[in-house]
Amino acid sequence: MLVLVLLLLVSALYYLHFRRSRKLIYEFSETLPTTGDLPLLGHTHWFIGSPERILNNVRTLVENIDEMGSISKVWIGPTLYVVTLNPEDVQKILENCLEKDYSYKFLQAWLGNGLFVAPVDLWKAHRRLLLPIFHNRIIEDYIEVFAEQGQILVTRLHEQVGRKQFDIYEYITSCMLDIVFETAMGEKMDVQHNPDTPYLRARKTVMSIINMRLFKAWMQPDALFSLTTHAGIQKENIEATHKFTDEVIRKKIAAFEQSSHKEGRKDILQLLLERKLEFSNVELREHIDSITIAGNDTTALVISYALLLLGSHQDVQDKVCEEIKVIFGSSLRSPTKEDLSKMDYLERVIKETMRLYTVVPIIGRKTQKELKLSTCSIPAGVGCAVVPMVMHRSKKIWGPDANNFNPDRFLPENCATRHPCAFIPFSYGMRNCIGRHFGMLAIKSILANIVRSYKISSEICDRLKIEILLFPVTGHLIRIEKRV
Ligand code: HEM
Repeated sequence: MLVLVLLLLVSALYYLHFRRSRKLIYEFSETLPTTGDLPLLGHTHWFIGSPERILNNVRTLVENIDEMGSISKVWIGPTLYVVTLNPEDVQKILENCLEKDYSYKFLQAWLGNGLFVAPVDLWKAHRRLLLPIFHNRIIEDYIEVFAEQGQILVTRLHEQVGRKQFDIYEYITSCMLDIVFETAMGEKMDVQHNPDTPYLRARKTVMSIINMRLFKAWMQPDALFSLTTHAGIQKENIEATHKFTDEVIRKKIAAFEQSSHKEGRKDILQLLLERKLEFSNVELREHIDSITIAGNDTTALVISYALLLLGSHQDVQDKVCEEIKVIFGSSLRSPTKEDLSKMDYLERVIKETMRLYTVVPIIGRKTQKELKLSTCSIPAGVGCAVVPMVMHRSKKIWGPDANNFNPDRFLPENCATRHPCAFIPFSYGMRNCIGRHFGMLAIKSILANIVRSYKISSEICDRLKIEILLFPVTGHLIRIEKRV
């Protein structure tokens, strides 16, 4: 009994201390409007259920906030988030809050201080060092790899010609894995022909545990998580993925010490070694892992959604085909940098795809010092949720036909008056996507390769779910026929 009383007393004191240390945040929270909250629970109940239900809840909650037309608050457990869909406020958040919010910590056990999750001081120094390696001139050397792997993909797809619908994502993600492994660390993995390796299985397992933690509040405290079997499985699989990348780095350093200069195309790891950036082996691994993870599913999803949209909008597919025919004639040669730069209509299709299916649906940041927005000042230490997935379909920004697929929204004359933060698939500001040029070129090259070889048909996809990224519930189902 005495122990129980003591325990209750300690908990009460801890709670009081916790509340007092965050007095400013609670006072600030009182000044903000909200919708859909419950006493004590806040908005936590919106984040319970299947990945599809959570996605629909988030969408409804944020759309309600959009209708209120003001900056609002959302409490998830003990964490306060400011939510706004006003592009001007979003710009201020993305330009000024460079620290990632609490939810990214679940990725840290895996990616350490890789660029994606690094704390802001370290991120600043490392982003400066990595930026020249993502320069357009260097990325354009990888166009050959995009074309080679795209060609293998087209050959593999032949087995599906004339059959009933199939999930294209499995094909695309294997192709993108081959591309990111070869360009990031010079490894020819041939995932397209060997999709089931222990390393790839370990990656999938870690991803699914991190995703589960993100949306199951009771799994979030480390003390509780470590009591579950998932903790052991996560540790074992993270170690397996680290071992794989460590081994590639070890081999690469040994080869580099033999002959530091390599002729021809250089992968990202080679470039990092040549520039003697003095990253430790662990830092090298954290960056390479972050790049291969951030660059694979995102790009594969955009390509797969674009194929779904082209399959359900034959008029748009015909225009893409026409553009490709003007560039290539009847030749099936590899797309070059010049070819890709001429694909203006395809580029608009890709942008419109990323608007309707925003594969990174939510971006979380944290204020480090007071930040003044249009209608309030946020104190330090508050989460800020930017929700491009909802902004990209907001009728206030995109008009009454916001849900319709219309690539011409991205004609230069239609973009001229749009706010720079109305469309942010790659985020915005200094901590935006470092691989966006890489991603756009790879997407264009692969789509051009597929569309010139196959006619695609599909139904529109409206059931979506959130698993860190935005996935369709029933997969990316399409049918293909050979083009004559
Ligand atoms: C269409 C494809 C892609 C999309 C939609 C996309 C989207 C994004 C977004 C929204 C962020 C910011 C995330 C946040 O703040 O939470 C980000 C960051 C990042 N992306 Fe991408 N990305 C794509 C492709 C790539 C590729 C191909 C690479 C690498 C080859 C890459 C590497 C990274 C890295 C390293 C970061 C962290 C940057 C930093 O914090 O400085 N991404 N990406």
